[in-house]
Amino acid sequence: MRKKFIIGNWKMYGSKASVKALLTTLKSSSVPPSVNVNRIVCPPYVFLAETQTLLEGSQIAWAAQNMAAEREGAYTGEISAAMLREFGCRYVLLGHSERRTYYGETDDLIAKKFKLATESGLTPILCIGETLKQRQSEQTEAVLQRQLDKAMALGESVFQQGILAYEPVWAIGTGVSASAEQAQKVHQFLRQHIALHYSDLAQKLPILYGGSVKPDNAKALFQMPDIDGGLIGGASLHAHDFLQIYGDCVSITN
Ligand code: 13P
Repeated sequence: MRKKFIIGNWKMYGSKASVKALLTTLKSSSVPPSVNVNRIVCPPYVFLAETQTLLEGSQIAWAAQNMAAEREGAYTGEISAAMLREFGCRYVLLGHSERRTYYGETDDLIAKKFKLATESGLTPILCIGETLKQRQSEQTEAVLQRQLDKAMALGESVFQQGILAYEPVWAIGTGVSASAEQAQKVHQFLRQHIALHYSDLAQKLPILYGGSVKPDNAKALFQMPDIDGGLIGGASLHAHDFLQIYGDCVSITN
């Protein structure tokens, strides 16, 4: 059985006070934890120290939303993989569509970060997804293939250290999730595409769905055979919603 993941991407939201309140509630929740479903939160960088203090020793892991493509140096405003490790991060999101769209991140740059993350002891969570225009012009598979191929070209031993997240851009923050069937169809395609290169890995790689996952649609999505959990934006800022989504994943998995 593949490991499942429920990951909260907080994006650029929160304050010292809200982070403390949210993490305290998540930690003290009565939702029974499952060894098969990993819970991870991705706060903004400046809250990582506080997150580490609050979550150390708990069942919840923490991760960064991005990292630099270089190990260290004169890169004003950047945060290195080694710094993230020092603050207890074990995972890092890479290639989120907001990074691609607003900060011009390319597949080459993201692949460079992917490699550096694995070399630094971080598990990269590679985000890929098509825009509405690309979907409407039937380019979804070609776009996803292109976004995947640079990371896959790093070789099986590198690529297998990651996690994949399919996040259709049209579903992010819009309240319009892909239907469970739409998402499953894409996840199945992704496994088939990966299998062309790495057949064992295609079955083992966790592939998460992201884009308007909420308590009312999570269960249907997670019931799909190729969906291994979710990358949650807006709903992860509300402890009750995040816990319910986690509980739904646990109930299907156990
Ligand atoms: P929403 O859940 O707010 O649509 O965001 C999804 C996302 O971008 C997670 O990385």
